[in-house]
Amino acid sequence: MGILIDEMTGERKMEREKAAVEIERLRTEIERHNFLYYVRAAPEISDYDFDRLLERLISLEREFPDLLTPNSPSQRVGGQITREFPTVVHREPMLSLSNTYSLEEVADFYTRLGKLLDDEGVKERDIVAEQKYDGVAISLLYRDGLLIRGATRGDGYQGDDITVNLRTIPTIPLRLNLLWSKSLPGSKRELEIRGEVFMRKDDFERLNEGRPEEDRFANPRNATAGSLKLQDSSEVARRRMTFVAYFLKGLDNEEVTQYDRLRLLGELGFYTGKKGNNFAPCTNLSEINHFISFWAEKRWELPYETDGVVLKLNAVHLWDRIGATSKSPRWAIAYKYPAQQAETVLLGVVFQVGRLGTITPVAELEPVRLAGSTVSRSTLHNFDEIKRLGVQVHDRVVIEKSGEVIPKIIRALPEKRTLFSEPIPVPSGCPSCGTQLVKPEGEVSWYCPNEERCPAQIRGRILHFASRNAMDIRSLGSALVDQLVVSGLVRDAGDLYSIELHQVAQLERMGEKSALNLLHALDESRKRSYERLLYALGIRHVGAATARELARAYPVFDDLRTASVEELASVPDIGSVVARSILSFFAIPSNQELLRKLQEAGLPFRVAEQQVLINRNFAGMTVVFTGELVWYTRDEASEMVRARGGKVTNSVSRKTSVVVTGKDAGSKLEKAGKLGVKVIDENGFRAMLQ
Ligand code: IVH
Repeated sequence: MGILIDEMTGERKMEREKAAVEIERLRTEIERHNFLYYVRAAPEISDYDFDRLLERLISLEREFPDLLTPNSPSQRVGGQITREFPTVVHREPMLSLSNTYSLEEVADFYTRLGKLLDDEGVKERDIVAEQKYDGVAISLLYRDGLLIRGATRGDGYQGDDITVNLRTIPTIPLRLNLLWSKSLPGSKRELEIRGEVFMRKDDFERLNEGRPEEDRFANPRNATAGSLKLQDSSEVARRRMTFVAYFLKGLDNEEVTQYDRLRLLGELGFYTGKKGNNFAPCTNLSEINHFISFWAEKRWELPYETDGVVLKLNAVHLWDRIGATSKSPRWAIAYKYPAQQAETVLLGVVFQVGRLGTITPVAELEPVRLAGSTVSRSTLHNFDEIKRLGVQVHDRVVIEKSGEVIPKIIRALPEKRTLFSEPIPVPSGCPSCGTQLVKPEGEVSWYCPNEERCPAQIRGRILHFASRNAMDIRSLGSALVDQLVVSGLVRDAGDLYSIELHQVAQLERMGEKSALNLLHALDESRKRSYERLLYALGIRHVGAATARELARAYPVFDDLRTASVEELASVPDIGSVVARSILSFFAIPSNQELLRKLQEAGLPFRVAEQQVLINRNFAGMTVVFTGELVWYTRDEASEMVRARGGKVTNSVSRKTSVVVTGKDAGSKLEKAGKLGVKVIDENGFRAMLQ
């Protein structure tokens, strides 16, 4: 027997060693293809073959979990949840740059720098001009070539450790290209790389498209900043962001210039843009001016946003000697392009009705070229904004595109007003259903209160239900939703699942084939997750992230439906405003009707079987925690109770089923005693979980 076991473990050891070699080979191979795809934009293998390599790696890592490391490319898909990011202190402060807005100021900088270099007895005046990427500054630490930490800039001295999220960004190498040990002249074992995380314009649009109007990001920078702070790293992975490196610290040889460092970063596996293009050496002021004016025009053709040019002294070894003020270095400067403006005519104003009834005035403009595209519409936000601008229909107006993707009217030109100008009327009735509009106290917007019957709201809700991050019903576009609503076939998303082929095929421009496509897409949507369904319901204030929290806290929908405001507000990230909004959603009869139809249609009203936690040991119970627990945080413990069908509240009453006491339990324990409520300690609680 003994021999047999030895043989088996021996065999296993062999297998493990073989697996380790294979895992290593796969990782290197995958990272190389990742680099070729994302950094070089020159893939060598198909997406299919890439997925096969990744699958093979994942399955080996599953078989040998002890061989899994955080820097394995399999970890790029994320999955870790972070409640709060730890604070880290930067090795050296992350300074920002002083800004200039004119070529004269750039010339002043160049002269000033020249004098400082004179003082140092240095003749050379070489500058590196780089694009200024409009994103979020990040610092990455590598030890022995492995990514060990990534942090935000924060206040410049300390930032947030967001390594888990940064790992999901394909252009951040998890391991540096092994070439580095040869080509880094006398490098230290620890390197710091700084750069910018940004979102490409197409990735940004894709993200926004899948979001309801009121949840959309104003620009790629906001979207990036928001995405980097997400608690769920798998959502970060889905957001698709890019990292560009512009700083390399920690080389022994300080004499390596900024230009050479950028090239070195490229060799290490970072995206730096193309040399001579995204960054270029300049030996005099006219070359600098040329770089600035070249990109002033060309930047609109780039797949990402730049808001200026950064100029850095090429001789890095002089940076310390030239020094810095408290905020910014003297050896570098940022030139920012002026915001783009154009003059045009306000032709009219239309009023849009959102899915939640909000009325948004939208300006229709005489088409005009601005910042690389033709603009013919812009939002006026609300009536306070119209009043503030003092703008009238037929006025000439100035529109501006700064950080925002959607241009806005910044000023009317009343001096150019003609006899034709007329005030913008506040519509008395909803433009869609005619219902008298209302303006709740303290809010800037007008609303259509006809929640149940307003066609525009119905349409908006169905479109939201079908949108990409919700049920993702691809063939259900806005034109088709219009037809379905107008024809009376559909009054809410629940009706979608009972329409029949001949009914759809009868609609104008539809035909059998498109009708079949729609029914197929609807069928497919039944497979979406419970959390997506929660989001798709379109409850005010319940965005995709909140829906995920709710699904986690209430894996079974009926528990969510019967939760009180107090219970809901005890779920992480859910405040009383959201809690009340959820309750009022369930109170509306037409919503109850919608839920009934969706349930009948067989949509997922609970977390998928394999995800449902272990048991329902707390079903029907109300639990109160008091004092400090050893094994779990309060949030974790509450989550476990909810996942097992129970409720968690903060105060002890006759309805409380059990009070769980931790260290230093206080008045709640006393109260439980008085009311005769059952009390257990943490060990008792842990036993109940099993
Ligand atoms: S160098 C001490 N280079 O602009 C100098 N910054 O106002 C540190 N930025 O915080 C920055 N592109 O977020 C540098 N090529 C580039 C840049 C760049 C964008 C951002 C960065 C920085 C801010 C400076």
